[in-house]
Amino acid sequence: MKILVLGSGGREHAIIRALAQSPRVTKLYAAPGNGGIAQLAECVDIAATDIEAVRDFAVANAIDFAVPAGDSPLVAGAVDALEGAGIPCFGPNKAAAQIEGSKVFSKDLMRNYNIPTAGYEVFDDAAAALAYLDTCAIPTVIKADGLALGKGVIIAQTRDEAKLAVREIMLDKKFGASGNRIVVEEFLTGPEVSVLSFTDGKTVVPMVSSMDHKRALDGDKGLNTGGMGVIAPNPFYTTEISTWCEVNVFTPTIEAMAAEGCPFKGCLYFGLMLTPNGPRVIEYNCRFGDPEAQVVLPLLNTDLLDIFEAVQQERLAELDIQWKDESACCVVIASGGYPEKYSTGHAISFGDAGDAFVYHAGTKLAGGDIVTAGGRVLGITATGASLQQAMNKAYAAVDNIHFDGAFYRKDIGQKALQGS
Ligand code: AMP
Ligand code: GLY
Repeated sequence: MKILVLGSGGREHAIIRALAQSPRVTKLYAAPGNGGIAQLAECVDIAATDIEAVRDFAVANAIDFAVPAGDSPLVAGAVDALEGAGIPCFGPNKAAAQIEGSKVFSKDLMRNYNIPTAGYEVFDDAAAALAYLDTCAIPTVIKADGLALGKGVIIAQTRDEAKLAVREIMLDKKFGASGNRIVVEEFLTGPEVSVLSFTDGKTVVPMVSSMDHKRALDGDKGLNTGGMGVIAPNPFYTTEISTWCEVNVFTPTIEAMAAEGCPFKGCLYFGLMLTPNGPRVIEYNCRFGDPEAQVVLPLLNTDLLDIFEAVQQERLAELDIQWKDESACCVVIASGGYPEKYSTGHAISFGDAGDAFVYHAGTKLAGGDIVTAGGRVLGITATGASLQQAMNKAYAAVDNIHFDGAFYRKDIGQKALQGS
């Protein structure tokens, strides 16, 4: 089968590497791909969000199956366009992708279907939001309704900070139309867990749990990023908690989406916080996490194409999905300055990766060399019988990779080791 994956990050590299192991895959394409993906797939110079061009390419090249991997193409309707042209896809259609594309949609879904989440109010008027902030509990959390490149969540420690965030989002339109409405949310505390799941709209199969490290610097200091490293499984997510979440969060969410007339097919990502009062949903994502995919997919023993097709054909219940009984650790190497301003085009020297695998996130081929091309550049992933072993192997490989300005967190996995 000829498969097309849309996107250019570490997540897409992980999906492509897993698909490359399927005996039924004869040819892989990526649009636009990156320097690492180019070793496994033919990269075509089309942006993942240029949906018409993607559809035309897929039709012209007789693509058998497509995987729009990121939130932007999914929320913009990539699945609707491709399936409308006869190309089956793994991923939610535009209506179902609202679960990530609109915070108001997802919060109302949770409230209406009794799915545990932080308390909240919705505002489409800045004056009303500012008045509410005079009396609400502090700290509080302000979220832009729409997609905002992972930057639309502000944890405000004071009323002034909260009001500034509201002004920036609703009046200055810092995130454009994504800020026409906002959610003001109760501030929760507790360990965070990412649980990705496969679902065909009827059956939901959770994957191995993971723990992202979102802040830029060691000790969870610095700015929020797309994710500086991740480990799996997450030791805070016990069997007891996972059973509770299946009954109270995962199945109710799938049923709620079906009841709303937009059954979700694809990878549904549950961002959970384990609060003193029990697990709460912090966010839904309509796709694999990045870098979560880089630790979860290497632990998968079942053919990923078989799963993708079963999801698309709504027969996921027939599959018995198997996982390795191991741990995985991914350390992201980023460009100096990320998540703010950084420079690109620096040559990367890849030393011996040993037992680790180097996922490319922001790289490109330039005259035969691989150079940096993004904020998060590489994700160095290793698996091991224990988390400590996986961490040791990943960090041993990280030490051998160099480019100008490279930086990475030295403590990926430490919190998990303490929690286990
Ligand atoms: P997001 O960009 O939606 O992934 O959110 C970024 C981070 O903000 C999450 O990973 C949490 O750490 C934090 N966060 C979001 N909502 C809340 C909340 N209600 N209480 C505390 N922290 C939150
Ligand atoms: N790593 C968090 C996300 O993919 O949204």
